[in-house]
Amino acid sequence: MSLRESRVSAIYPGSFDPITNGHLDVIERGSRLFDRLIVSVLHNESKSPLFSVADRVAMLQEAVAPFPNVEVDSFHGLLADYALKREATVILRGIRAISDYENELQMALMNRRLQPGLETVFLLAGEAFSFISSRLVKEVISLGGNIAGLVPPIVEERLRIRLRPTQTT
Ligand code: PNS
Repeated sequence: MSLRESRVSAIYPGSFDPITNGHLDVIERGSRLFDRLIVSVLHNESKSPLFSVADRVAMLQEAVAPFPNVEVDSFHGLLADYALKREATVILRGIRAISDYENELQMALMNRRLQPGLETVFLLAGEAFSFISSRLVKEVISLGGNIAGLVPPIVEERLRIRLRPTQTT
């Protein structure tokens, strides 16, 4: 007999503009903790994203292909409402440093107030990834720096096309 009778679905929400290897580390570890993990991109034009939601979803889908219990989606509006709609009881978030904590704490408490029973589970970023952010990766490649190993190969390719400074002779 199974020790756990109900299946646990978790949502890993974010901007993912674009996905980094830090996100992928959280996804891989989260996929082992939960029966189903939904990685979901927020539609939020106020952040002036580099990639469209469709592009971000496509890159995520390629990156999570090795994990059979992980799916990719996108959402509008309140995360707490979306979690209810998707029948998820857990929000998964990664924490890199103490500077992430304050905002994450506020969001977790607000989400639990909006949707009692919705728990946020934090994974500490792997030590090899704790300095990586989508913002820094975009800045480094736009200034000609090397981002190999920081993002999945498909993302590096797309970033190079979009942001790499043109060579002048
Ligand atoms: O990758 P990010 O930008 O840190 O992700 C932030 C995200 C998408 C998790 C957060 O902005 C969010 O959940 N937005 C949805 C709107 C909402 O529910 N706001 C109240 C949250 S307390």
